[in-house]
Formats: sequence, C-alpha cells, structure tokens
Amino acid sequence: MIKIAVLGFGTVGSGVVEVMHENRVSIAHNAADEIEVKYILARSSHADSPYAHLVIHDFSLIEQDPEIRIVVEVIGGATVAYDYTKRCLLAGKSVVTANKELVATHGQELLAIAKEKNANYLFEASVGGGIPIIRPITQCLAANEIDEIYGILNGTTNYILTEMIQCGTSFDTALRQAQEKGYAELDPTADIDGIDACRKICILADLCFGRHIDPHDVKTRGIRGVDLADVAYARSLGYKIKLLGRALRTGDGHITAYVAPHLIKNSSLLSNVDGVMNGIVVHGNAIGEAMFYGAGAGKRPTASAVVADVIDAAKHLKARKFLGWDEPMPGYVTDADDLVMPWYVRVRASLTAIGTELGNVRFVTRRGAPLDEYAFVTAPMTHRHLHDSLANMEVLSHYRILD
Ligand code: HSE
Repeated sequence: MIKIAVLGFGTVGSGVVEVMHENRVSIAHNAADEIEVKYILARSSHADSPYAHLVIHDFSLIEQDPEIRIVVEVIGGATVAYDYTKRCLLAGKSVVTANKELVATHGQELLAIAKEKNANYLFEASVGGGIPIIRPITQCLAANEIDEIYGILNGTTNYILTEMIQCGTSFDTALRQAQEKGYAELDPTADIDGIDACRKICILADLCFGRHIDPHDVKTRGIRGVDLADVAYARSLGYKIKLLGRALRTGDGHITAYVAPHLIKNSSLLSNVDGVMNGIVVHGNAIGEAMFYGAGAGKRPTASAVVADVIDAAKHLKARKFLGWDEPMPGYVTDADDLVMPWYVRVRASLTAIGTELGNVRFVTRRGAPLDEYAFVTAPMTHRHLHDSLANMEVLSHYRILD
C-alpha cells in the first residue's frame, strides 16, 4: 500500500481525491499496488466533505511522515506551493503537480532537487488539463528534433472566444460562465491576459528545446479587447480568432516564444478546438505534424492527468524518471516582434493613407461597419514594420494570421 498526501482541496484537489477513490481498483491494477490518500492539507475543515476525516492543517505532519512517499501539490501559485514542494522533495518524497506557475518559474530548480534526492517531480496536468502532452513530448516524440510547438493552451479564453464566435455572447457573460464551470484561475486575469498560456508555452518550450525560458521573456497578449466586430471580419475571411501560445526555433541556438490572439483558417487543425478544449500542434523532423486534443481545464480532466502522474510516481519510487532542461542563457529567446507574418488590421483611416503606408492589402467587409472603418490583411511583415506603418492611423485592432 502506497500512502499519499494531497496539498490543497479546491477544484482540482477534490477532483483528485474523488478519482482516486472512484477508480481505486483500476488505479491499483495500473500502479501494481494500492494507493491511499492519507492526508488532505486544507485551510478549512471541509466538514461537509466525505473526506473530512483526512483533512489536516499542519504541513509538517506530511513532511515528517515517512509513510508518505508521494505528495500531490494542487495549491497553486509560487509562494506556499514552492516552499512545500521544495520541502517534500528535500525529504525525498515525489511530488506531482498541476501548478504551471511553479513549474514555469521554478521547474528547473525543483527538478534538480528531485534528481539529487532520487525522487520525481511530475507535472503532466500543468499543460493542457487532461490532455497527455508532457509525457508524449518527453517519451513518445523523444526521437524527434522539434522545431515548433503551438496551440490553444487556455480553456477559459477558448471558452469565451467560442461563445463570442458561436453565440455572440458578451465577453463578461462568457467569463462568468467559465468561472462557474471551474475553468478559470482564482484570479481570471491570468487567463484573460494570456499569463496562464504564457506559463504553459514556457513549460512546453523548456521540454521541446531543452533550455529554460523565463516567462518574462515571452511577449504576452491576451484576449481583452477582442471585439465582436473582429469576430465578424474574421468570419468573412474564413478565419476564427483563437488565443495561441507558440514557440519555434528561429535560427542557430535561438527560439522565439509568444502568446497572442491569432486569426486561423477555418480549415486549420486548431479551428474546431472549441469551448474548454485545448489543442496542441507539434512539428517534429521525424513525425511531421502531430496534434493533441482534449479538455484543457476542469476538475475531473485535470484530476485525470494528476492521478496518472501519481500512478507513474508509484511505479518509479526507486528508479527516478529523467526529466529536466538546461539553465537559461542570455539572448536565447529572441523577440517575437521580429517574426515575419501577415496581419489582420482594423483601423479608422482614409483609403489613401492605408494604400500609401501598406501598399497592396486585402480588404474585408462586414455588415453594419461604420463608413470610416476599414479592415484588411497585410503582406507578411514584422510587428515593428506594421507598427511604423500604422503610426498615423487610429488602430482599432491588429492580430497575427497563422496560415
Ligand atoms: N485556467 C486554466 C484554463 C486552467 O482555463 O486553461 C487549466 O490550466
């Protein structure tokens, strides 16, 4: 019998305990041993929960209990969770987490401690919710040189955009629905402003390209400001607006990573990834293109990935799994503003100004547009070039186009 502790009893924590209990027979079969939750660390007593008898408030009981070999950290954030994770690893316990902020910022250090202590630090649930993506990248695609990875990495914003595109729902109503469904972060600005997607693309890039990327080096733009007018123009073009995180090799020893809303073609792999679903596309030099799709947030899909890691940790209590990446290097991450891509632009300006500054553009129309509003697609150019060309126009929106 393997005893585990769960740190945090919110949406994901309660999902983990439920799935552990409901599926205990198949979990025992897959882990080749029974796994039992011995403690749940929570701030309140959770008196109404059927698991209230497991709730404790003192972390040191877990830290000092030699029977606890695996700890699930689903507290979130990078303060208390960082302290507890470090202490568990230092005590030789394996840690499983869904905490993308912690992995993206301190993953390299925590993995080094895990290595030193012959323990595992596993984080399948940190990217893509229930979608298997960390293990496929590090194991199933290990034969490839990966040159690009991109995708819809945040369920909350994809839910909001889908509601706007399919139902014309307002941004605020769609956000409230996503919060009610348990998709959003405690502070939903992390979702809306792309910060959550930024942490996830950093983790993916760390694994795909083998070197730590500081989330602060990743230009990040969320979906605040995406307007139903842009949704309508995109539709006339045969595109949808999706928030993408993207990381790619941009020359010898360099990569670029960024998060931004994009127009993607209705025929593209990601365009039907709707609602809370996430989709991640990987380009490898042997496999070509592969896509991973599934529920990107929510209690049970995330618990599914966490519990799979618990099983993996249980199977690797003695033999540590290799997982890690190199330390950061100055100049490694190059500026996403230098990428050459076509742009969708909506401006209030004269036709002459548009022609003079941008040359031949492809105009697009929508019903009910004001007379002085123009929307168009540019030739491929850098963000700097676009910015300079639009300097004398009233820019209402501009988004990258990924063809
Ligand atoms: N808030 C996150 C999302 C949860 O909406 O994708 C899963 O990481």
